[in-house]
Amino acid sequence: MLLKKRILRYTPPLLHKLLRDAYFSVKLLPCYAYDYKRFLSYSGLNKSRDSKTERAARITLFYHQVEKGLSLASPRSGFGMTVIPGLLDDVDTYLADYGISEPATNAIAALFNYLDYHERIGHPVDFVRGRLFSILDKHHIPLDVARLWHGGVLPFTRAELSMARNAGFKSFFNSRYSVRQFAGGVIPEGDIRSAVELAQKTPSVCNRQSWRVHAFNDAGQMERLLAIQSGSNGFGHQASYVLIVTCELRKFLGIDERYQPWIDGGMFAMSLCLAFHDLGYGTCCLNWSKEPHDDKAMRAAAPISPSEQIIMLMAVGTLADEFNVARSYRPNVDHCLSIHSACIEPITGK
Ligand SMILES: Cc1cc2nc3c(=O)[nH]c(=O)nc-3n(C[C@H](O)[C@H](O)[C@H](O)COP(=O)(O)O)c2cc1C
Repeated sequence: MLLKKRILRYTPPLLHKLLRDAYFSVKLLPCYAYDYKRFLSYSGLNKSRDSKTERAARITLFYHQVEKGLSLASPRSGFGMTVIPGLLDDVDTYLADYGISEPATNAIAALFNYLDYHERIGHPVDFVRGRLFSILDKHHIPLDVARLWHGGVLPFTRAELSMARNAGFKSFFNSRYSVRQFAGGVIPEGDIRSAVELAQKTPSVCNRQSWRVHAFNDAGQMERLLAIQSGSNGFGHQASYVLIVTCELRKFLGIDERYQPWIDGGMFAMSLCLAFHDLGYGTCCLNWSKEPHDDKAMRAAAPISPSEQIIMLMAVGTLADEFNVARSYRPNVDHCLSIHSACIEPITGK
């Protein structure tokens, strides 16, 4: 300790910086190597592994694309044909391997919604209809049973949503949906400030509050940012604001905090969605799970400090009188909850 103090006292600050940089660049490597190995081993990157969980995730991802498409103000006729044939195949084999179960049932429900929509607009989607009915036949699923499954879109009115918002916390929380059709118009800057101010109540690691929000309302600028993000086709142009939520990396002081920006930033973003919901606006989180070239493109397009980590984008807009939202079904709580009870000693007689 004494030696360290002496070295620090008698050497120039620039050397300290260089030595610390060298020290941490070596110390960080095994941590990233550990994370790298875990992600490589356990994520669904490698389709050849194809476990039940990975297959279920793929079905959810693709049927949700169908739901998302249906929740736009004007879904394009015949949309989704880059994913639907593969989705139908995945549903078929999932039912064969695991029986009639979620999320295959949710996918079937979403595809029925897809058929209903196309019937309403008079655009035949015979391939989807034929394949879907042959899957039901093959797995002996009665039509009236399949029709009861959850998937697709839910219709809402602004008035219904407003009532649900004011009916207690559970109803408030459950009535927040990702909105993918906005009525347009201006959101006062004061409302953006109020929502961000409320979201500042989000807990964060040792109260570091690393979050930052960059709010854009210029149509041209929003279009540029959304084009780089690429997940808001069909609705991004109706947003009144596009937000970029970031976290300031300078607020994180230890190697063990290397993923904290995503945690604190993600929690903050959730609060922000709820704050906008409370104000009567719709939001849609827009993912920033990107590779470096997109991150660089976003930094070139938006005035974000290099020390800020982009967490996600968010489209914020006004609600129409009537609109659809993707149902985004949630399974039974046992899918995500494991209670590891204390071991209770059996009571024995004396
Ligand atoms: C981090 C994050 C990124 C998301 N990215 C997108 C996106 O790029 N485009 C989109 O339409 N929805 C996006 N969503 C919305 C999800 O699809 C949605 O939250 C999910 O289906 C649950 O539905 P709900 O928000 O209505 O409850 C994103 C959500 C989160 C949390």
